[in-house]
Formats: sequence, structure tokens, C-alpha cells
Amino acid sequence: MSGVFITFEGGDGAGKTTQMRRLADALKRAGADAVVVREPGGTPVGEAIRGVLLGPEHGRITPLAELFLFAASRAHLTEEVIRPALAAGRVVLCDRYADSTTAYQGYGRELDLDFVRRVNEAATGGLKPDLTIVLDVDPREGVAAASEGGPDRMERESAAFHERVRAGYAAIAAAEPDRVRIVPRGSEDEVWREVVRLAAPVLERAGVRLGEEGA
Ligand code: TYD
Repeated sequence: MSGVFITFEGGDGAGKTTQMRRLADALKRAGADAVVVREPGGTPVGEAIRGVLLGPEHGRITPLAELFLFAASRAHLTEEVIRPALAAGRVVLCDRYADSTTAYQGYGRELDLDFVRRVNEAATGGLKPDLTIVLDVDPREGVAAASEGGPDRMERESAAFHERVRAGYAAIAAAEPDRVRIVPRGSEDEVWREVVRLAAPVLERAGVRLGEEGA
């Protein structure tokens, strides 16, 4: 028995969390109770690492330290939560995963891409999502939306940084077009229809059928 692993990616303020929540609700109605986690975080250790990474009070973290902190959170979440859930045949939805590190630390921070790839490989033990949905967003809109209530440490980065992240996602999708799908900006319902269109066949392989109305 092996479950299905779906990740959501995209720039800050792309609306991932809303779409993930809708998919989790649809899965519940379809009788499949998904495991929903986020990165960094998803476990008590991961949430503590998240506090270090995103709290603006920490000021600068060197790019290499940042890379390892994201990787540490991921290694723990993968082993403690994701792999056991998949082994039990469950659907796992994850808000960001290794592609975030490629986009933000690789393209955004401009760390060596091959090194980032090897760190990701080590942290995940080679686990790859069955499907990765990238919600595209113009950083000028996204970062403003995400920063309401005070920007976190990443949201304080320059417009050029967020443009590199967006270009990074485009490169990731081009390299693995079967796994990584970019959904263009649209209304919440337009994006949702696209999410259902992409997720349905992957879920069906695991015997999960979303309801009629895209559930
Ligand atoms: P979060 O509040 O989860 O933002 P969002 O709602 O946009 O997902 O914050 C996560 C931030 O951390 C986000 O700016 C992306 C960044 N990040 C990385 O830089 N590298 C990573 O590997 C991950 C998982 C996230």
C-alpha cells in the first residue's frame, strides 16, 4: 500500500494555503482523510525551527545556515510524518517542500544549485511528490498580500529576490514537467478548478475519487 504525496508551491501570497484547505475538505467528503502539513514546520521541532527562520527578530541568517535549517525541518517531517503516512496508504498534502528550497535558497539566494540539490536529496531521502502544484503570482501582488499584518523575514527580501524565486519555479517546472505543474493566476474558483483537474488523476491512481462539483 502506498499513498499519494501532493505538494503546493509558489511565491509568497499565491493563495496556496486556501487551495490546500479546499483540497483537504474535498478529500474528506470523498472519504479520504488527508494528512495536511506545512514547511517549515509540521512537527513541534519543525515549528520551533520555523520560529528561528521566519521571526524578523532574528535578523540576518547566513544563506548556508538558512539552507540547513529548512533542510533540518524537512528531514524531521519526512521521517516522522510523511513517510509513515504514505506507507499507511494515506494522502499527504504539504504546503511547500524541497522545491521551495531550490526556488528560494537556490535561485533566490543564489546558492550553488547542485549543492542545494544534494542537500534536498539528503533531507528527503530521495522522496519526491507525485504531484507538485505551483501557484504562480506576480511578486508585487503576492508579497503585499502575504505581508498584511507584518512581513516575515523572507517577505522583507527585495523585489529582485522574489523575481528570482518566480523564475526558479519556472525552471523547476521546465525540468520536471510531468511532476511539476504551474497554475496561472486567476480567481480563487478558477485556480481551484485547475487544482482539481491536476490532482484528480493522481488521486485516482490511489483509489480516491473526488466528487462531481470538483467536490
Ligand atoms: P510561510 O508563512 O509558510 O509563507 P507562505 O504562506 O508563502 O508559504 O513562510 C514560508 C517562507 O519560507 C516563505 O517565504 C518561503 C520560505 N521558504 C524557503 O525559503 N525555503 C524553504 O525550503 C521553505 C520550505 C520555505
